[in-house]
Amino acid sequence: MGVDFDSDLGKLQRLMAESIAGTTRRNAILSELQIQSGDTIIDVGCGAGHLLTHLAKAVGSNGTIYGLDPSKAQVDQANLRCAEFENIKLIERNADNSQLQSDCCHSATSTQALEYIPDVDPALDEITRILKPGGAFVNVSILWDHFKFYGAEEKLNEKIHDSFKAHCSHQMLPMDLPGKLDRRGFKNVKDKSLAFVITRRDGNSPARYTEDVMANFALTQGISAEEISDWKRQLEQAEQEGRFGFTSFPVMTSAYLG
Ligand SMILES: C[S@@+](CC[C@H](N)C(=O)[O-])C[C@H]1O[C@@H](n2cnc3c(N)ncnc32)[C@H](O)[C@@H]1O
Repeated sequence: MGVDFDSDLGKLQRLMAESIAGTTRRNAILSELQIQSGDTIIDVGCGAGHLLTHLAKAVGSNGTIYGLDPSKAQVDQANLRCAEFENIKLIERNADNSQLQSDCCHSATSTQALEYIPDVDPALDEITRILKPGGAFVNVSILWDHFKFYGAEEKLNEKIHDSFKAHCSHQMLPMDLPGKLDRRGFKNVKDKSLAFVITRRDGNSPARYTEDVMANFALTQGISAEEISDWKRQLEQAEQEGRFGFTSFPVMTSAYLG
C-alpha cells in the first residue's frame, strides 16, 4: 500500500513542496534543463504544479507546459495555482498513458513521482515516446534508504522507518535509472546529489512535515498511536537537547535522448 495523494497526506505533500526542500529541487531542475522560448515541456507527476509556473515563464507564451498527474486533488490544486497561465495544460492521467503525440516535447521532467509507480518501465517508455530526438529528461527521486530521522530511541526509530518503506514502490530508483535510460537510447546520463541535512526545525521545515507524513503512515501500518507519540516526543526532546537530525538524499538524474 502506498501513499494516497488524494487524502490528507496530499496536503502535507503540498506543504513539503513549498518548503526549502521543494525550492532547492525546482532550482536544480530549472538550471539543468536548457529551456528555450517556445519549448514544450512535460512535468510527470506534477502534484500541485509548483514547478509548472516557473517552466511556463521560461518558455513564454509561444511555449506549452503539460502537467500530468493521476490524482484529482493534486490536479485541482495545480489548476488553481496555474489559472493565470494560458500556456499550462493539466492532464489527469497516469504517466504510462499521457495521450500526447509522439515526439512532441523538447524536455520531460519529474520530481519524486516515478518511485511511486509500481511498474515504472511503461512510464519511462511513454516519456521516451513523447520526447523529441535530442530531448532532455531530468528526474529527481529520493534514495529512501538515506531518508532518516536521528535522535529518537534506536529500536522505535527503526520500527517507524521500516513501516515507511511500504509508502513507495522503489526505495532506490536513482540507482536503477541509468541502466533503464541507457536501454531506451538515452545518452550522457548524469547524476547529481541534492542531499541535505537538518539539525533544527523552523516553522516551514521539511523535517517537520516529513515527521507528520511518517507518523500518519505508521498508523496505517499497524503501529500504535502510543508508540508514534513517543517517537515524536523523543524527536522533540532531541531537538531541545541539540542532538536532532534529519537527512534526505534526493538525486537528480539527467539524460538526452540519442
Ligand atoms: C511526492 S508527490 C510530488 C509532486 C510534485 N512533483 C512535487 O515535487 O511537489 C508525487 C506525485 O506523484 C503522483 N503520481 C502517483 N502515481 C503516479 C503515476 N502513475 N503517474 C504519474 N504521477 C503519479 C502523485 O499523484 C503525486 O502528485
